[in-house]
Amino acid sequence: MKQFKRTTVTSALPYANGPVHIGHLAGVYVPADIYVRYLRLKGEEVLFIGGSDEHGVPITIKARKEGVTPQDIVDRYHSLIKQSFEEFGISFDIYSRTTSATHHEMASEFFKTIEAKGGFIEQESEQYYDEEAGQFLADRYIMGTCPHCGNENAYGDQCEKCGTSLNPTDLIQPRSTISGSTPVMRKTKHWYLPLDRHEAWLREWILENHKEWKPNVYGQCKSWLDMGLQPRAVSRDLNWGIPVPVAGAEGKVLYVWFDAPIGYISNTKELLPDSWEKWWKDEDTRLVHFIGKDNIVFHCIVFPAMLKAEGSYILPDNVPANEFLNLEGDKISTSRNWAVWLHEYLADFPGKQDVLRYVLTANAPETKDNDFTWKDFQARNNNELVAIYGNFINRALVLTHKYFEGKVPAAGELTDYDRQTLDEFAGVKAEMERMLDNFRFRDAQKEAMNLARIGNKYLADTEPWKLAKTDMARVATIMNLSLQIAANLAIAFEPFLPFSSKKLRDMLHMDTFRWADLGKTDLLQPGTQLDSPELLFEKIEDAAIEAQIQKLLDTKKANELAAHKAEPVKANVPFEDFEKVDIRVGTVLDCRPVPKSKKLLQFRIADGLAERTICSGIAQYYPNPEELVGTQVCFIANFEPRKLMGITSEGMILSAVDADGKLVLVQPRAKVADGSCVG
Ligand code: 2FM
Ligand code: ZN
Repeated sequence: MKQFKRTTVTSALPYANGPVHIGHLAGVYVPADIYVRYLRLKGEEVLFIGGSDEHGVPITIKARKEGVTPQDIVDRYHSLIKQSFEEFGISFDIYSRTTSATHHEMASEFFKTIEAKGGFIEQESEQYYDEEAGQFLADRYIMGTCPHCGNENAYGDQCEKCGTSLNPTDLIQPRSTISGSTPVMRKTKHWYLPLDRHEAWLREWILENHKEWKPNVYGQCKSWLDMGLQPRAVSRDLNWGIPVPVAGAEGKVLYVWFDAPIGYISNTKELLPDSWEKWWKDEDTRLVHFIGKDNIVFHCIVFPAMLKAEGSYILPDNVPANEFLNLEGDKISTSRNWAVWLHEYLADFPGKQDVLRYVLTANAPETKDNDFTWKDFQARNNNELVAIYGNFINRALVLTHKYFEGKVPAAGELTDYDRQTLDEFAGVKAEMERMLDNFRFRDAQKEAMNLARIGNKYLADTEPWKLAKTDMARVATIMNLSLQIAANLAIAFEPFLPFSSKKLRDMLHMDTFRWADLGKTDLLQPGTQLDSPELLFEKIEDAAIEAQIQKLLDTKKANELAAHKAEPVKANVPFEDFEKVDIRVGTVLDCRPVPKSKKLLQFRIADGLAERTICSGIAQYYPNPEELVGTQVCFIANFEPRKLMGITSEGMILSAVDADGKLVLVQPRAKVADGSCVG
């Protein structure tokens, strides 16, 4: 295996058109951060590049919807995203953005170099044009009827109802979402990266030379390559993005997927204006891209083809892409608000960044899609972080304070059991390295937790609290060893749980802090004064979890309501007919179930003139009818009286049918006089 001098680590640039959620963190940013922290801890030369992806059509659509500029949108979300990453300890060396001047210049130069080398082809094609708005329409700006399922609101690139990928020309009765007019076909010229020209070397490079890539990544690349590569347009007719830097390209910008990966390079240049090239052009530099599975083709095929076409860059050595994280069994979705947003998590669980990092790594979608549930979150916190890691640290520190005034005691002679324990944890370093080097972060974290288990078992088996009465020398040895294990845990967990690791290091007054020290038993010198113990983790109570689950249930309900299709409107009625119906407000004086009826409630209503009885078929939706007494309802006052279960009902109480078929009483929000007319 080639030995590299340094590593450039990138993590996908998130679109700055919404906040980041747990799926982002689990799939890309936590794994990248673990890896970078691990390399830094080993003393390796490493650079961690991040930033926001601020171009592309969805940003312009959001801006148009909100009546603001695309710049306003990206300014808002870039700051929010950057802050979330900082709060979660994602330790970027730089987090910049693709609207920066450095990036615009870098992406333009990149394009020009390829253009000058004849690395693009120019092609005319027919595309939809909105004559009223005077612009070409991106696929997302065209809607129409899906030819597969008849959905009238399918987009030009996809029908969200049946999931089919579409071309704008597939849509029946296309319409522009900008002006509502019917678009026409018009000729336009675009620049294409001829991926077909790159196919041969890409095949060899990936399929022969990178068999070590994760199976999900390798498999996706193979299937793309086996299908045969086609030229890809790298320009768009749009007014938001980086202008195509050649004559005759007015009104055209670089396709967002052309400029975004160049953002990794621009951000490096912004950070290191004089030495950025060694991170991108030196064969001794190892380039690693952390991404989600939807980005594989761009990072393994398109971007490498761009880098090769430009000619002066290295290619990625690995692209450890993850699968997706679901939430409570459902796909995370921004549009359906089905997500745990990082800024909201922190508002609800302040200071618990490491808990989320831990749970997301424990459930990381490394080889297949995985699920995040709040119950599992609670269980992992309470049963693992608190009960194993936190408990061990706390016991080690409390006992040291109790028996040795908080000073690290010197170890005496080791027993066979001590040696056996040491043997067990001596292997942890090599084992963790094997996993971390292969991007198997969940197994590596498990291994770190096993170290805490070893510590717990050691204390439970040696029972220093019993020996304290008879053999303080032995207690000193036990506590010394326990504290050495605690110091090892601070190192082992640093890549995963940086906040608690720092807290632990501070409590232990650890000066040395290197990966190379993992497995050593002399990390804490006898006589070192330790701080008073503070809890590393706290139990999470049921109420906090139930509140989160309720929040998701509310979202589900809101989505169902939004998706509820209203009944078609009935035939018009003349005003005179409407006037015939006398709708009024009255106060409920009494309300009780009608005996032997599952459906009916019997109301006594004060109608402003007198009292009347009305029966209504809503019993199953109002199990506590007495609670309605004193509230006001709307009723049809001149509805022909009818007998229901032997009771004369003098009117009809109004209720609405909910999305799921439930009846809900129509009630005035503010108190009005009984007998007031509704109309
Ligand atoms: O899928 C996404 O969120 C893209 N914004 C990722 C871009 S990665 C890189 F190319 F910048
Ligand atoms: Zn469809």
